[in-house]
Amino acid sequence: MDLHGPENTIRLSATDRGLRAAVALLRDGRQVAFPTETVYGLGADARHPRAVAGIYRAKGRPRFNPLIVHVSNIDAARALSVFDPTAEALAAAFWPGPLTLVLPRREGNGLADLVTAGLGTVALRVPAHDLARRLLMAFGGPLAAPSANPSGRISATTADHVMEGLSGEIAGVLDGGPTGVGLESTIIGLEDGMPKLLRPGGLCVEDIEAKLDQPLTNPEHTKITAPGQLASHYAPKADLVLNADVADAGALWLGFGPLNGRRGLSLSPTSDLTEAATALFGHLHELDRMAGESGVQRILVDPIPMQGLGRAINDRLTRAAAPRDS
Ligand code: TXA
Ligand code: MG
Repeated sequence: MDLHGPENTIRLSATDRGLRAAVALLRDGRQVAFPTETVYGLGADARHPRAVAGIYRAKGRPRFNPLIVHVSNIDAARALSVFDPTAEALAAAFWPGPLTLVLPRREGNGLADLVTAGLGTVALRVPAHDLARRLLMAFGGPLAAPSANPSGRISATTADHVMEGLSGEIAGVLDGGPTGVGLESTIIGLEDGMPKLLRPGGLCVEDIEAKLDQPLTNPEHTKITAPGQLASHYAPKADLVLNADVADAGALWLGFGPLNGRRGLSLSPTSDLTEAATALFGHLHELDRMAGESGVQRILVDPIPMQGLGRAINDRLTRAAAPRDS
């Protein structure tokens, strides 16, 4: 079966012409990366088994990790899944935006089985980015889109990051500049009426709990196929040391707050968590490049407070620091 790649990856501009070209490629069953407000997604027609298989191929992604389906509005989401009152309330409050809802699949919804990796649920999201929305409208159907990075590597927040990781593996990338939020969406599971936090992300847990007027459960010990299954993720090539407070002349720092003369980059010189989230993946890409160039083995990371977006930032950093096989 020909799933494309290696091929010439085209950079498409954020114009009507670029959008038309992206839509033509997607209709042809090809894979095209596009910006969302969180990170760049690697899109393909969610109803087309070969198109979806091409996403797994391009990312080198394990088959069992299901994909998020992006739609242009809540009606399109309702056509693919079964909404309960909690889902309705969350969608009304936070869509379009950095929230993904995992809901029971609607029978005969037309999605390729590979999208949900055989689960009875489907992850859905209405992105807020203008270019993503225009693409979804012009395409006129659901787009499966995981983050546009090779499996296990740092997510892409610019078209350049996408090119570094996936050039030659995908048909194109729509260049919409750097993404705004910088962290993937928050994923909430609603399969059995109890809202569960499956992945912290760009929408603060506190905001969701305030809306629901109840705390989210944290399903560490359930069998759900959640992103946490893959302990090592978002990994730079250098070793990452969290909550560092040691002086290490040979290391590079990922700071939070002022660097005060330390070598490296600060996520936010003023200790602002929103700014830090936006900068996280870009700084990891950049520090990894700097470490490679100067032969540095270790990137030391300042402590990040465990509140608001800090929860998602710590989640990504913990995965980036986790032991890996290769
Ligand atoms: O912000 C985002 O969410 C980005 C942009 C492109 O929208 N997308 C993204 O997708 O981060 P991805 O594939 O890298 O992460 C999706 C996560 C996966 O780790 C998967 O385990 C989980 O969503 N997921 C998808 N479908 C699921 C399901 N039916 N049940 C539980 N988890 C699911
Ligand atoms: Mg990802």
